[in-house]
Amino acid sequence: MPSPLNVGLIGFGNIGAGVVRLLHEHAELIAERCGRPIRLARIADIDTTTKRDCPDVTAILSSDTDGLLADPQIDAVIELIGGYEPARTFVERALRAGKSVVTANKAMLARHGADLMAAAPKGASLLYEAAVGGGIPLIRAIDQGLAANRIRGIRGIVNGTTNFILTRMEAKGVRFKEALAEAQKRGYAEPDPTLDVNGTDTAHKIALLAAQCFQQDIRIGDIKVEGIESLTPTDFAYAKELDYKIKLLGIAKSESPDGPVEVRVSPTLLPASSLLGQVPGVYNAIEIDGEPVGPTLYYGQGAGPKATSSAVASDLMALAACKGNQEPPMRLRIPVGKKNLKPIEDIVTEYYLRFLVTDKPGTMAALSRVLGENNISIRSMIQHGRERAENATVILITHAAREGNVQKALQAIRALEVNKSDPFVLRVEEV
Ligand SMILES: NC(=O)c1ccc[n+]([C@@H]2O[C@H](COP(=O)([O-])OP(=O)(O)OC[C@H]3O[C@@H](n4cnc5c(N)ncnc54)[C@H](OP(=O)(O)O)[C@@H]3O)[C@@H](O)[C@H]2O)c1
Repeated sequence: MPSPLNVGLIGFGNIGAGVVRLLHEHAELIAERCGRPIRLARIADIDTTTKRDCPDVTAILSSDTDGLLADPQIDAVIELIGGYEPARTFVERALRAGKSVVTANKAMLARHGADLMAAAPKGASLLYEAAVGGGIPLIRAIDQGLAANRIRGIRGIVNGTTNFILTRMEAKGVRFKEALAEAQKRGYAEPDPTLDVNGTDTAHKIALLAAQCFQQDIRIGDIKVEGIESLTPTDFAYAKELDYKIKLLGIAKSESPDGPVEVRVSPTLLPASSLLGQVPGVYNAIEIDGEPVGPTLYYGQGAGPKATSSAVASDLMALAACKGNQEPPMRLRIPVGKKNLKPIEDIVTEYYLRFLVTDKPGTMAALSRVLGENNISIRSMIQHGRERAENATVILITHAAREGNVQKALQAIRALEVNKSDPFVLRVEEV
């Protein structure tokens, strides 16, 4: 049997233990498929006492991260501690030492990924299939399966926690806080769910996908992010009436090969019959539209030790299958500093606008006048009876409009006497 790929794991937590389990249970299959075994040689974690649900690794477990990184026997390092630091430093040290790195750390990559790739000498790769979409092979689909395409756009549901919350709000008519409490009770949301519900986790993942698809240095700070905290049961009721679903979507697209890239994350209305609109619970789904292939859809479990360890192992196998110090096939590096982003004011899409206004003659005329003055035309409207005293909720769906114009119109509407609350805006994606 050829010599094994010797691997060191830093971070023996939830996912780390899943990787240990998978490498053990599928050891034979893995060795057969990549032509040599993958041998877990060392594990480092600051916590060496917690019992994990995996085979006994006491003999190779220690808190000696420095020793692992300096060990000349280790060919590749798996980083599974999460967070920015010391994860970034560990990854950089491993790469500079000529070791390839496999990581699931989207937060660190969305901030430092391009710099780390640039720091890697020839023969050392930074692989991160597990950082986006859990077990769904997205990075490899972009790098290899769609390698001959010009990617026109990606849009997707890449955070299972928020998709569970939205699915519950829609099905049960409950408020955000109730749906979040249920997600926490079932273990789908962290005790501190901030980065999930405010859209940051989705933005981390969309930054990575956008950088890969458009070969630009797109980072978390480049993305306009809105979360799901302000959605109300009323929005789901109106969306249903209009035959839409509400999903937290990450979107990145570019109209032409040299055109600017539009990247954003926000709760978005999607046609109820669309495939993305129907993704339930904690599942993830991502649509990648390439030329000439057309739209392709990827669906599966976006988190958890099983799905994530599957992706980590696939990266290790890509390394194990390489001869000598070759890089795994089709690894693209993101050019540091290269970016051409569309300013958010210039994006053009349809909008869902919710107003609380005085229910009296002239109100609709006042709203329509301001919208018209800003080149925004109305596609459909819903107004039900009075909800509170003399006020009524009005929902408008616009035709495609420029974001800058919509923001200007909303500013003018806030100042109208008939307007009784801050207008609420969602974007609409047609299929
Ligand atoms: N959980 C998922 O479903 C999922 C899905 C996709 C990607 N990911 C990513 O996978 C990574 C790991 O997630 P996880 O859920 O496995 O986290 P986790 O359960 O918290 O595991 C992290 C482990 O790393 C240890 N650690 C922290 N700092 C360390 C340091 N400086 N040196 C050595 N060990 C250290 C932690 O010890 P202590 O507990 O003592 O701090 C813990 O045992 C994260 O980047 C996450 O974003 C997770």
